[in-house]
Amino acid sequence: MSVVRSVVRGSGSYLPSRIVTNDELAGMVDTSDDWIVQRTGIRERRIAATGEVTSDLALHAARGALKAAGLEPQAIDLIVLATATPDNTFPASAVTVQASLGITKGAAFDMQAVCSGFVFALSTADSLLRTGGFARALVIGAETFSRIIDWKDRGTCVIFGDGAGAVVLEATPSSGTHQDRGVLATRIHSDGRYKEKLYVDGGPSSTGTVGCLRMEGREVFRHAVQMITGAVEEVLADTGFTAADIDWFVPHQANKRIIDACAHKLGLGPEKIVHTVERHGNTSAASIPLAIDEAVLDGRIKPGDLVMVEAMGGGFTWGAALIRW
Ligand code: ACO
Repeated sequence: MSVVRSVVRGSGSYLPSRIVTNDELAGMVDTSDDWIVQRTGIRERRIAATGEVTSDLALHAARGALKAAGLEPQAIDLIVLATATPDNTFPASAVTVQASLGITKGAAFDMQAVCSGFVFALSTADSLLRTGGFARALVIGAETFSRIIDWKDRGTCVIFGDGAGAVVLEATPSSGTHQDRGVLATRIHSDGRYKEKLYVDGGPSSTGTVGCLRMEGREVFRHAVQMITGAVEEVLADTGFTAADIDWFVPHQANKRIIDACAHKLGLGPEKIVHTVERHGNTSAASIPLAIDEAVLDGRIKPGDLVMVEAMGGGFTWGAALIRW
């Protein structure tokens, strides 16, 4: 059976140059390097420069992905940018990236699913490539969470960082078997009963302000492992693979303890896990494509590998996707 698959042609990423260490944060709030490393695994994070906005980070990552794919911007007719920290309330930051790349055709829009944004964007772009008449998509995760952090709240300011990552997907005729390259299956979920566990206390329609991130960390932790492993198991069941078949597990980099607990529950060995949280912190929708690009560039992820990505975040939202690289 001939089907269309969304095949990854290249990846790119970008981190702002400014590194903020745990010790620097310990000078601002009552915390310590030991506490942060023990509870989260994070040692440092990047913070965007004054005037450096989400679409700037996204543009760097997009250019990197296009270069890796060997494509000119004009080859792209779809941009899906996952972000909870857009440059402006509107227009979508995706159209700023589109204009900066000189693309005037196709569609560009933002996807808002907080930390799960990249998985939601990947799933949406995959659907549009397979059925919507689009040829090639840039799927980007880009965030400047430093702009919505309460820098006096030690429970949240130690966790998040800024960055961006991107992949180019191309609609490709395929045999329809699970040996095909491309996105093999995706699952996305949300449950708004939990919306107050992780939210921003402002917005255009409520306060008219941007607001700050608020989180019940323990509650997020309590739900994360079950939701994430559930989505991964669904994707495995959809494709007939088992956890043992996964070559690389590229989780949303929320917290080392959540990642390790999920991997343990799924029976995945530490050698299969891509970790960047130690150096990037939690970059929300950017964390998966940032981790993917790092593992592609250092030679871990190779064509033909089975790559499982997963995420969980505010909403709650959660999901997973299995990709043959
Ligand atoms: N430094 C020192 N002490 C701190 C800090 C800090 N940075 N933050 C909180 N504490 C204190 C608290 O005030 C509390 O003190 P108390 O006992 O005197 O009241 C104590 O540490 C324990 O606080 P808890 O919030 O219960 O700490 P916990 O062990 O749950 O760790 C953490 C907090 C790291 C946030 C944890 O709950 C967690 O990892 N949750 C998951 C949240 C997460 O990953 N969010 C990312 C966004 S969502 C996502 O991406 C999936």
